[in-house]
Amino acid sequence: MASYLVTGGAGFIGSHLASELVRRGHRVRVVDSLITGKRRNLAHIPQVEFIEGDLAQAGVAERAVDGMDYVLHQAAIPSVPRSVHDPIASNRANIDASLNVLVAARDARVKRLVYAGSSSAYGDTPTLPKREDMPTNPLSPYALQKLVAEQYCHLFTRLYGLETVTIRYFNVFGPRQDPGSPYSGVISLFSTALLEARPPIIYGDGEQTRDFTYVANVVDGVLRACEAPSASGEVINVATGGRISLNELLRTMNRIVGTDIKATYGPARAGDVRDSQADIRKARAVLGYEPIVDLESGLRETLAWCRSEATTSAPR
Ligand code: UD1
Repeated sequence: MASYLVTGGAGFIGSHLASELVRRGHRVRVVDSLITGKRRNLAHIPQVEFIEGDLAQAGVAERAVDGMDYVLHQAAIPSVPRSVHDPIASNRANIDASLNVLVAARDARVKRLVYAGSSSAYGDTPTLPKREDMPTNPLSPYALQKLVAEQYCHLFTRLYGLETVTIRYFNVFGPRQDPGSPYSGVISLFSTALLEARPPIIYGDGEQTRDFTYVANVVDGVLRACEAPSASGEVINVATGGRISLNELLRTMNRIVGTDIKATYGPARAGDVRDSQADIRKARAVLGYEPIVDLESGLRETLAWCRSEATTSAPR
């Protein structure tokens, strides 16, 4: 049994990491500001120790990291458009807080810190699929902030010997992804729209593509990154290696739900990337990673969860 801190553990991806760690018999502590996270995401795992606090305050980061073997740093204010509207708030959450976590992890001599990086770092560079050694080209404050924090991780490994690994996530989706804001991930928004028989909104022509990754794949990749002997100091894509357009995604989701609801089209979003697809050879080589849940199975799980939420929970 080892001890794991999951920062942002009351959020979507963080709560899945916490669940899996508990299932494997580990000790889990979560720190979360509850700005986007929710206590109820952890209701099914009461054995998790919970600290409510803002990691942009150094004392919170120190208290959270104290006594931990591993730090899974997931806390962030996600969303490209949200960062375009409010770059200062997202900078504080995505960079200041990350630096505090790194300093605290260094001082507490944790075994390894695994950081939630983002595919947005690649921006609109022309070559697909994206390989980790390709140049970066952030197109939004969010993308830049995620890239700065990953470079801080790398620097902390070189300068202080703190073991860090950056996993670049590619459009993660699944149960517990909150559909309650216009900044929510597109699959959560499409799911609720279809289940409520409303037309989803597509920004742009819908021909932009993404490597949508079911959350269980990411959990597997991150937990492998804690242990993989040669992963420290590395940046590694974790995704499926495929890509699908939003128009095709909507057709697939309509087919699963048994509907034929057309989208409403709106203007393309500022800072939006056109195409995104991961090269996952490095994850295979360094982590022994292989995607375990494909897009369609993941969509079915997600839609089933959205359906059960609609019938069992209070209005969102
Ligand atoms: C980006 C990152 C992703 C990161 C996420 C955090 C890229 C390629 N991906 O995701 O790694 O985790 O930020 O928020 O940069 N859209 C619609 N209708 C909607 C909502 C979205 O058409 O109602 C479109 C967006 O304009 C975009 C696509 O769907 O083209 C995906 O959007 P979203 O789910 O918000 O994620 P990204 O911004 O791609």
